Amino acid sequence: MRRPFIAGNWKMNLLVDQSLALAKAVKTAAGQTDTVDVLVAPTFASLAGVLEVLKGTGVAVAAQTCHWEPSGAFTGEVSTEMLKDMGCSHVIIGHSERRQYFGETDEWVNKKIHAAFRAGILPIVCIGETLEQREAGDTFKVLDAQLTAALDKVEASTMPSLTVAYEPVWAIGTGKTATPEQAQEVHAHLRVLLATLYDDSVAQQVRIQYGGSVKPSNVKELMAKPDIDGALVGGASLKADSFEALIHFDQ
Ligand code: PGA
Repeated sequence: MRRPFIAGNWKMNLLVDQSLALAKAVKTAAGQTDTVDVLVAPTFASLAGVLEVLKGTGVAVAAQTCHWEPSGAFTGEVSTEMLKDMGCSHVIIGHSERRQYFGETDEWVNKKIHAAFRAGILPIVCIGETLEQREAGDTFKVLDAQLTAALDKVEASTMPSLTVAYEPVWAIGTGKTATPEQAQEVHAHLRVLLATLYDDSVAQQVRIQYGGSVKPSNVKELMAKPDIDGALVGGASLKADSFEALIHFDQ
């Protein structure tokens, strides 16, 4: 069975001291559950400190992006080999903010996924439609294109360690959550797509997180849906008490 996977994406928030304080609170909260996988994704500036706080605790630490080359003249970028060397276990790839503000394309997302596996880091791959695309009835078409391109030449054997995050762009940071029914409809559809691209066994093993205004008041009903395996959380992951409530959604 797929273990619930609750991840906090801190985005460009929190100074180092604030990140360390939050990481300590997450460590305590995660120590009180053995049924949920927990991950945090601090900024690059706080990554080393947070890794130190969470070392040996079972809480996974991710970078929010990466480059696909192992090294070279790419000012400002960080490779998956460097993330692995620091102790990161995961990397978030293709977040809609990266796509929207930094020109990240499906092709880059695919290269980054290959780079993550090359370095032994597990990718969390974000896909999502805009409001315009949803209203035009293109949701499935857009998501199918994003996920199919992202997974080009990704081996079936590595797929169970990849996580897909479905994050409707219109629900991110807006307070508008997809209803559990809307999210479940998409997650079920994505699982069918995974079965088509690979097979049933892969489709049943890949975890699909929902992201977009997840908070303590809506996490339970989202997580109750059969194909929603976790949450990728922005705003509500920045405060210890709300992220603790998300980690303990099943208690
Ligand atoms: P949000 O962000 O929870 O603040 O909507 C989610 C995300 O972008 O991962």
